[in-house]
Amino acid sequence: MADNGSVNDDTNDQNSPPLEIVKNEASVEDISREVQDTLTLSQRHKFWETQPVGQFKDLCDGNLPEGPIEPPTPLSEVKQEPYNLPNLYEWVTCDMDSEETCAEVYNLLTNNYVEDDESMFRLNYSKEFLRWALHPPGYYKSWHIGVRVKSSKKLVAFITGIPARIRVRSEVVNMAEVNFLCVHKKLRSNRLAPVMIKEVTRRAHLENIWQAAYTAGVVLPTPIASCQLWHRSLNPKKLIDVGFSGLGPRMTMSMTMKLYKLPDSTVTPGFRKLELRDVPEVTRLLRNYLLQFVVAPDLDELDVEHWFLPKEDVIDSYVVESPETHKITDFCSFYTLTSSILGHPTHSTLKAAYSYYNVSTKTPLLQLMNDALIVAKQKDFDVFNALDVMHNETFLKELKYAPGDGKLHYYLYDYRLKHILRPSEVGLVLL
Ligand SMILES: CC(C)(COP(=O)(O)OP(=O)(O)OC[C@H]1O[C@@H](n2cnc3c(N)ncnc32)[C@H](O)[C@@H]1OP(=O)(O)O)[C@@H](O)C(=O)NCCC(=O)NCCS
Repeated sequence: MADNGSVNDDTNDQNSPPLEIVKNEASVEDISREVQDTLTLSQRHKFWETQPVGQFKDLCDGNLPEGPIEPPTPLSEVKQEPYNLPNLYEWVTCDMDSEETCAEVYNLLTNNYVEDDESMFRLNYSKEFLRWALHPPGYYKSWHIGVRVKSSKKLVAFITGIPARIRVRSEVVNMAEVNFLCVHKKLRSNRLAPVMIKEVTRRAHLENIWQAAYTAGVVLPTPIASCQLWHRSLNPKKLIDVGFSGLGPRMTMSMTMKLYKLPDSTVTPGFRKLELRDVPEVTRLLRNYLLQFVVAPDLDELDVEHWFLPKEDVIDSYVVESPETHKITDFCSFYTLTSSILGHPTHSTLKAAYSYYNVSTKTPLLQLMNDALIVAKQKDFDVFNALDVMHNETFLKELKYAPGDGKLHYYLYDYRLKHILRPSEVGLVLL
């Protein structure tokens, strides 16, 4: 999931945007404090304590090896029938190519997916986005799992996996990226989520895949990294009007608009949209760049074509082609994810760009990401979001991003790491 926090508005000062960087050390401390709190409440994670995931009690045990927590079971021993659901409900496989099914999933998520703590905004993934997110090379239809009410056939819950090769240190592991876990608001707190997680796990096991990667805003056993989402205002007036951000102390609206104003056109010579012919070169650039992170996807040309070729209102990618050599030296990308604005009289949607993967070898990252802001502004986005993963910390403050409230925690299923990673060691962005 993408975080849906709003801007911390208590850190504004007169001449600069809110600038309260959360240091990596602090985030590790936060986690261990949250862990301590958790340990005092015994049996708090009745489900997760039964799963092959890093357990809080093992956090300080440096003797446990890195890698898979359990050996894979022989495929013949994988449970062949789905897990039991409460009697009124049934499993369905959601064919996202079907306009009707895709619309049902879209409606479930639009009304029931992730909200901010104050329920002012709810993530609103478009149908086109969902199809893109769920149909990468080699996807399994059986991993797009719905729960319906038997009698009415109403879709009331959803969870998905997609296959991905994820490198952890030097090991490339076939994993499922699990996302879009959603239970209808009226069915919450009935322990449906654990059954859904077990079912997607079973279906991954049937394909001989034993590890998974996922993110969540909540702390579960046990994050491999805890990251923060930052927000760069592109349309500050609207963001303030809808309560996404606040007017800083001693700031007027016109001062704020001036502060966030961007040039009309990009500044880097050779900055242009990614095209199909660039895929081999961009794949080499990305693969080489991602090697420096502890956890990162292992992308081939087919993946790059799927994940980065521009798709209107879904994914935008740009390259810098050297005007002299015509080599591609830099790359940046962002995906489109709107949020519904709940109960506002005049505005109903917030259009956000989310930084995806960026590579700078020649153009300074700061300049590249400023050009990304400029094109996002031209495309009428209200806000540009970026996690503090990879090298993003080097441009966030300077480009006037403000930290959001809340964290996005990264998790691996059935794979242990000895230490919590710093956000800058994470080279993975999930949608
Ligand atoms: C997340 C959601 C599906 C959980 O369902 P629920 O009805 O609240 O919770 P249930 O009673 O079914 O299950 C509770 C168990 O699920 C776990 N859980 C809750 N949210 C989770 C998440 N995002 N990822 C993994 N496990 C989660 C809980 O920790 C608990 O297990 P535990 O006892 O071991 O701690 C539901 O709250 C929801 O749809 N929320 C809005 C969308 C959302 O936040 N999706 C997750 C995006 S990461």
